[in-house]
Amino acid sequence: MINPIRSIKGTYDILPEDIFLWHKLEDIIFEICSQYGFKEIRTPVFEETRLFSRTVGENTDIVSKEMYTWNDKDNRSLTLRPELTASVARSFIQHNLGKDSPIQRLFYIGPIFRRERPQKGRQRQFHQFGIEAFGSDKPEQDVEIIALAWHFLSECKLTKRGKLNINSIGSKKCRNAYCNALKEYINPFLGDLSNISKSRFEKNPLRILDTKVDKEITLLQDAPVMTDFYTTQDKKHFESVQNFLSQLKIPFTVNPKLVRGLDYYGGTVFEFSSNSIGAQDALLGGGRYDGLIEMIGGKPTPGIGFAAGMERLLLAMNSRDDYPDKNKPDIYFVCIGDESIEMALNISMQLRLKGLKVIFNSLNRSMKSQLRAANKSGSKYALIIGEDEVKSGSVCFKSLESGEQNKVLQSEIINFFDILTK
Ligand code: HAM
Repeated sequence: MINPIRSIKGTYDILPEDIFLWHKLEDIIFEICSQYGFKEIRTPVFEETRLFSRTVGENTDIVSKEMYTWNDKDNRSLTLRPELTASVARSFIQHNLGKDSPIQRLFYIGPIFRRERPQKGRQRQFHQFGIEAFGSDKPEQDVEIIALAWHFLSECKLTKRGKLNINSIGSKKCRNAYCNALKEYINPFLGDLSNISKSRFEKNPLRILDTKVDKEITLLQDAPVMTDFYTTQDKKHFESVQNFLSQLKIPFTVNPKLVRGLDYYGGTVFEFSSNSIGAQDALLGGGRYDGLIEMIGGKPTPGIGFAAGMERLLLAMNSRDDYPDKNKPDIYFVCIGDESIEMALNISMQLRLKGLKVIFNSLNRSMKSQLRAANKSGSKYALIIGEDEVKSGSVCFKSLESGEQNKVLQSEIINFFDILTK
């Protein structure tokens, strides 16, 4: 016997019993994005590796440890996308998307690949919904993006199950000065830090603020704060973002330790974390990346966006209770004996042409077994054609909710459903 082949560690099948939850989430996404004027973009799942190393950053965990990268037969290094912002930026430049409108608003849904240690809420293939707006460097653009995120989370009934943190990691000038001050502060106790923090000290000191190690959190308590290094412009921008958010009554917390794990960010950053899904609690994260388009050869163009992990959203949502499956069949056709088959096929076809969802049982099993399947399918009604019905040219109509049943002439069944479903 051949050993059955299983899916790769950290990857999951989305099974038919769950797919309606994904459709519901996608419906919310399409609706919200169209309300804010965002249009969908779909890009390839693999790109040239340098797209991600240049933008996300060589020293980030994503690029240094987590990417699925291989050399193609023509010796080009390719990578399964570990995020979508860089791909969308690449596409923006390649197709000159900025030419028709000074602001481009784009959204996407798709699989993402990161070779992380799998655990609850963390997969190696997962899905992101994200949006990107290119063209405006104004604080009101930041607020539009955060407002869309908030609106989306509220449609998913998640705003009360988590917290929105925001921060500004300032302009490049501010970040450089701050990183020097941070290094100077940390240097005396560098030897006490974890290996990860030591390596971050060299490559990306800002990320040390992200530490989850208690001892390091305590050591960092008196570290210099970014706020003291903001330029006048950084300060003004971030204050406006906060004022607008308050006016929109979007609750937020300013968290000076929020730095995000991708190198392209500068200025406003934000994250929404849930308090109900365990350690992997970040549901959505994003920020401003005004230098990104230039990093990959485009004209300087400001941008801001976010992405949300769809598996995590579904984990946090009370989806099954809040969003019942609307794709359940209307009718389950039960037919007994060879003579009923043609009639049942015919009536099923006509009912489907009228827009009804009809399941036809093609196993020709006993009445009991077919009715059991009908009940399990969640269908509202069963139509039954047995020997009696064949003889009398009728169909037995049964409500699976009340158990009530009636005989209806086959020639009348379409009209009967027309009236019933009006
Ligand atoms: P990110 O924070 O790396 O940002 O990912 C966004 C979201 O993807 C996270 O908040 C989380 O919900 C989900 N996520 C990340 N890794 C995993 C995983 N291994 N398993 C399940 N879910 C995961 C970005 O990717 C940026 N491109 C976001 C962005 C868009 N910034 C600006 N525009």
